[in-house]
Amino acid sequence: LTSLDGIRAKAYCSSANLGAGFDVFGLALDRYKDTVTVRWAGKGGVILHVEGEYSNGIPSGLSDNAAGPPIIEMIREGGVVGRGVEITIDKGVPPGLGLGSSGATAAACVKALDAFLHLHLTDDELVRFASLGEAIVSGNPHADNVAASILGGFTIVYDKSPVRTVSIRPPSNLSVIVATPKLNLPSKKTRAARKLLPKIVPITSSVLNTGRASAMVAGFANGDIELIGHGMEDELAEPYREKMIPGYRSVKKAALAAKASGVAISGAGPSIIAIVNKRKQEPEKIGLAIVKAFSTEHVQSSFFVTRPAEGAEIIRG
Ligand code: HSE
Repeated sequence: LTSLDGIRAKAYCSSANLGAGFDVFGLALDRYKDTVTVRWAGKGGVILHVEGEYSNGIPSGLSDNAAGPPIIEMIREGGVVGRGVEITIDKGVPPGLGLGSSGATAAACVKALDAFLHLHLTDDELVRFASLGEAIVSGNPHADNVAASILGGFTIVYDKSPVRTVSIRPPSNLSVIVATPKLNLPSKKTRAARKLLPKIVPITSSVLNTGRASAMVAGFANGDIELIGHGMEDELAEPYREKMIPGYRSVKKAALAAKASGVAISGAGPSIIAIVNKRKQEPEKIGLAIVKAFSTEHVQSSFFVTRPAEGAEIIRG
């Protein structure tokens, strides 16, 4: 691509929450990615195309695609007048798995538009723009998935207005197992999963989560995978959401018995994420233990093994 043709950016999928970090933690995953191309086209307005492997059922209207609000706001920020913009999303992240599919699209879009419009936004500003689309998907503009897809690695969203984020490079021996049960889920799954949560939580739960989340951050900072795993227990969301996933408790038990360091629901589910030190344990064994435990519950599932990913990037050439 030359600058005349346009600008292209990619962003990876991610797993949010990681147990104790509901709406705060994210981990970019090197398994699926969305690619977005931005070009000048026509005299005004925005044309959005959605194509690629997982484009089926993804809306291409600016008001119902998660990239819509970020696109509109960034074009306004860029002060574009008298020129139209054509945006093509190559959808490589499957939606509905709990892997931040809409967040990856928004992340790739803002990364491409930032370069295309020469905005030179900071990472936190990119995260803020990208998170505007999450309200469409979930009813609430949380930034955990978009932060992971934009910054890469393990990310912490630690403030709201303005959004503030920090990213830690995960240890190189961290392996991630993602298992997805085949379930019939409501069409607005994330919204439904958020409705299951109480508005007010006991202070004892908040104290437990603060301790575990802090341990997890120390684990990422020191490269201690066992410590990261201990932090993956959650009092705020999982106890209310686990009923969405038949057999979740016994599946989690089976993964821990197979020597996973930690197990949690990935984002709003239904996928489950487990982590392990690949120099000490075989990740595939944990994946197989999870699939077996699901089948005992009469639920079909599949898994893959991956590793943390880098942040969103402009694709050159
Ligand atoms: N933190 C979000 C949730 C991630 O769990 O609802 C899914 O968008």
